[in-house]
Amino acid sequence: MTAASAPGKIILFGEHAVVYGRPALAVPVTQVQAYVEVVDSATPGVWVDAPDISLHCEIASLPATHALRTVIESVFRTLELPAPPPLKIHIKSTIPVASGLGSGAAVSIAIIRALSSTVNRPLSVDEVNTLAYAAEKLHHGTPSGIDNTVITYAKPVYFIKGQPIQTFSVAHPFTLVIADTGISAPTKASVGDVRKLWEADKSKWEAVFDQVGELVQAARKAIESGKPAPSNVEGWERLGSLMDANHALLQQMTVSSPELDRLVLAAKRSGALGAKLSGGGRGGNMLALVKPSDAEKVASALKAAGARNTILTEIK
Ligand code: PMV
Repeated sequence: MTAASAPGKIILFGEHAVVYGRPALAVPVTQVQAYVEVVDSATPGVWVDAPDISLHCEIASLPATHALRTVIESVFRTLELPAPPPLKIHIKSTIPVASGLGSGAAVSIAIIRALSSTVNRPLSVDEVNTLAYAAEKLHHGTPSGIDNTVITYAKPVYFIKGQPIQTFSVAHPFTLVIADTGISAPTKASVGDVRKLWEADKSKWEAVFDQVGELVQAARKAIESGKPAPSNVEGWERLGSLMDANHALLQQMTVSSPELDRLVLAAKRSGALGAKLSGGGRGGNMLALVKPSDAEKVASALKAAGARNTILTEIK
């Protein structure tokens, strides 16, 4: 038996603009995970068992474009295994689906790692990332690659599409409350809508994306330089206000929603230093930067404002 797991992720700054070549910051969220176990099987074929989505079948019976089938077959192809041994692949995940926490990428990455170690052919991190990116393309159409990158490397990442990965350090840990609207919203649709806006007025949207890029640079500087330090309230407030500004630009891109805006407002009113939607938007998750002593209070306010679930996480 071999097993592998992969964390969720959250985008701190820069979603959507990242599709147009601007930088984005994302971090792993280890409180939620995808788990995969691979066991030898007496029954011929490669079987998947994913109770979360009520799936139990041989992969050959799935449509050729099914996300699980394609990622499994891509591993066998990369490892040049034309006739894989009979296997059973168990998949479980605590990462909510289609909600901006990277569930698809995490499942793919855990499958890739578990399968390659089952056949004793461990893949390098870059190989894992390349295979996971190919799988993301099936989910999202034109993904930037940020999800698979931050989850594969499991480190805070400063990401620019098509450029070598840059991890970054967090000078002082900071606390986020992540809240789920409970609305699952496909990233492909919001990315497609932003593209329509961009196609209709490229110079306007390029300027908006530039503003996002500047916020991302400022946020990275603040996080890496040690401001906000625990004692430096101004530094924290600065990072929070960069989040607010990023949310306002995402609203302009039409990817927020009344539910996300309600949660952002509830977080701010209950003491968060900044708040924004995260990921594709229209539903899914938002995040709030909080002083550690305010985390429970903000989480309760988010629940009272309709959040399905909240996660408290320390970014370090
Ligand atoms: O919805 P998520 O968390 O998968 O994030 C998508 C991020 C976008 O910038 C909207 C799209 C992308 O491919 O980067």
